[in-house]
Amino acid sequence: MFVVRGGRPLRGRVSVSGAKNAALPIMAAALAARGTTVLRGVPDLVDVTTLSQVLQSLGMTVERQADGALELTAADEQRCLADYEMVRRMRASVCVLGPLLGRRGRACVSLPGGCNIGHRPIDLHLKGLRALGAEITIDRGYVFARADKLVGTDIYLGGSFGSTVTGTCNVLCAAVFAKGTTTISAAACEPEVIDLGRYLNAMGAKIEGLGTPLLRIQGVEELNAVEYTVIPDRIEAATLLIAATMAGGRLQVDNVEPMHLAAVIDVLRMVGVGIEIQGRTVCVTAPERIRSVDITALPYPGIPTDVQAQLTALLSMADGISVVTDKVFPDRFMHIPELMRMGANVRREGASSIIGGVKTLTGACVMASDLRASAALLLAALAADGESVIRRVYHLDRGYESLEKKLNQVGADIVRVADLPETMPASLQLSDEEQQPLAVDSSDSPPPPKFLSKSEFARHRIK
Ligand code: EPZ
Repeated sequence: MFVVRGGRPLRGRVSVSGAKNAALPIMAAALAARGTTVLRGVPDLVDVTTLSQVLQSLGMTVERQADGALELTAADEQRCLADYEMVRRMRASVCVLGPLLGRRGRACVSLPGGCNIGHRPIDLHLKGLRALGAEITIDRGYVFARADKLVGTDIYLGGSFGSTVTGTCNVLCAAVFAKGTTTISAAACEPEVIDLGRYLNAMGAKIEGLGTPLLRIQGVEELNAVEYTVIPDRIEAATLLIAATMAGGRLQVDNVEPMHLAAVIDVLRMVGVGIEIQGRTVCVTAPERIRSVDITALPYPGIPTDVQAQLTALLSMADGISVVTDKVFPDRFMHIPELMRMGANVRREGASSIIGGVKTLTGACVMASDLRASAALLLAALAADGESVIRRVYHLDRGYESLEKKLNQVGADIVRVADLPETMPASLQLSDEEQQPLAVDSSDSPPPPKFLSKSEFARHRIK
């Protein structure tokens, strides 16, 4: 868990790591390459480790080199099972489906299962793969797919929530091997999908229209492994810009593609943030007061749903009422009850939350529920008066590379400690008199945890 001392402005420079949501589908696509792939800029994340294990179970060797590059080689191409025990740890493992089908003609991949941010079916993935000629059945929680040969066709991949990012990735990785021409309409335009397409083209694929909703693919016989560098993580960049806006101060964020952040930069400017863009560096100067604004999370180039929770935390401190709507994941509001423990004033209305901004948030003990909700709670804790505790920060480790280290380098005070009663800060404990009405008979109520001295507290610190 994190113990966070709030109210400290951020000042200095941080650099953004490589994009998790580009690295994962690109690592999966390396299954389809002949030879050894070298990927640079792949962040050191739990999700990357999990996918590496999935790929190893599929006969790949995956090694992190001394210089940080990731080397992937398809050694045994007979294996085609991505089992439940692995896939349930990270639903993006489903990205192996398309490359396996395209390259090996067979795949047995566990259905991803549930997720805290909402219902996340893969019906569009399967629709696209079937359209290319794959025989697909679902049995005992697994997708069984076979394709002796894939044949190009016209595919419409839009769903009731718009395009699908990993669905486009999966269908694209199969279509590059399909005989003839394939078109994918309502393809996702996210930068991470473009990055995957550029990686496939670097290996010899023939994909046109990347970044538009209409992709055109000419099938090829095989793909040859290459060296490739993934794009920076626009979601981490947005998270850092919002952190400085909420905590106050002035932060320079390096290794940013500003075009990937156009919608987020537009919102930050609307709420009064000073933003200067110098090449691949974005400088943010926090405003005295944050203006309220209504926002809607949409597929790219709209406001990313992966930044919705962080923007909700920001708007919880704005002057006036803001409405936040998520059209991609209408139930992605698990962060709201936890923000309310910190004093936020929010009401759910279907796919929207109505936020009555408050002047300050107050530190509290809160619980992370998913990757971006944990980021939102961390940002709120940085801005809050007093100390906060954030439990289940393992969610954060899935998608942010050393986020607390980066924030501490620019003035934050975040300590990662073992989640024990005695590591709860004194400021968050109820005093004796506050507990008095509850303790009917002090003899049988548990003794309050003794407070740790600084040196004892430091012993619990996780490096
Ligand atoms: C990707 O998930 C990202 N994950 C998510 O980031 C991101 O929130 C999401 O895209 C939306 O941008 C990775 O890239 C690994 P979708 P994905 O398929 O591909 C519905 C994070 O925090 N849908 O684009 O699973 C779906 O329910 C993660 O880094 C279908 O109905 O999302 C959703 O409402 C969280 N049928 C919408 O489409 C399908 O077959 C968009 O989902 C597929 C999706």
